[in-house]
Amino acid sequence: MTQPVVEVHLTDADLTAALRADARRGLTDSPKWLPPKWFYDARGSELFEQITALPEYYPTRTERALLDSVAGAIARTAQAEVLVELGSGSAAKTRILLNALTTEGPLKTYVPQDVSSSALRASAAEVAAEFPGLAVHGVVSDFTDTLATLPRGGRRMIAFLGGTLGNMVPAERAEFLGGIHDVLEPGEQLLLGVGLVVDPAIVVPAYDDAAGVTAEFNRNVLRVLNSRLRADFEPEAFRHIAHWDPDNEWIEMRLESTVDTTVTVADLGLTVRFARGEQMRTEISAKFRLEGLGEELRGAGFVLEHAWTDPDDRFALVLAARV
Ligand code: AVJ
Repeated sequence: MTQPVVEVHLTDADLTAALRADARRGLTDSPKWLPPKWFYDARGSELFEQITALPEYYPTRTERALLDSVAGAIARTAQAEVLVELGSGSAAKTRILLNALTTEGPLKTYVPQDVSSSALRASAAEVAAEFPGLAVHGVVSDFTDTLATLPRGGRRMIAFLGGTLGNMVPAERAEFLGGIHDVLEPGEQLLLGVGLVVDPAIVVPAYDDAAGVTAEFNRNVLRVLNSRLRADFEPEAFRHIAHWDPDNEWIEMRLESTVDTTVTVADLGLTVRFARGEQMRTEISAKFRLEGLGEELRGAGFVLEHAWTDPDDRFALVLAARV
């Protein structure tokens, strides 16, 4: 087996600087907000893994079943020599794709990218062991600003699965898709996994489960600020909210303070007042319609080549080519 290579373009110091800047901006804004990327410390990643197994949380299992049934078709259409996976995490679903791309196509190299170097090193080693013929070249980076550092050479497909595109607002998506367009050559492809617009009676419980795991995941961002920025949030004093916004067609997760309180963020020299009942946005999870996504892709210089959906139309895998 070839040992995986892991390139680091993002240090702990970079991450801390980004967290500080985000926390200062979001906590001093009105209304307050925090970006979802800070959920994922070790505990947050573990809670997210638990979420993916909840009965109410359909996206992960729906995407996996869909990948199982269409990976061969994707591989035959894509003919990728290099698979770049953005936000690869544990790369659990990627194996399905890697299997198809190596047996039904010419795949030679897998480039997993993630902000977490521990998750990346672990999954790169596992994939390298499982696919002995594949060169594995991991990149620790923040995909929003270091796409240009991804290794080149060979016909590439960039995969962005799991519905994470939905964490961005439309303007951020336009910038993100434009950035991907700029690193690809004409004809190279992008594979997106996106949640589709479904009945609120289905989507809301997926973000507000009966066992309260999503609530803990949501409050975890406060624990991250406590441990990394020496803040003194009392996570239990915040109530989890999952709100479906019918105009934007996204789920908004919020934390609502159940008390009047003042929070200190020692490392920022910041004190922040929360009124009882005040809500702070912690994540948006946008759901898509294929026509709308097709337009967004066209606007960014892609053409939607094919979309595969599950039998209940809850999730889609979308293959687009750079024009
Ligand atoms: C990992 C961003 C796709 O938005 O569904 C799960 C994160 N948030 N439950 C999603 C999440 C609440 C998840 N993504």
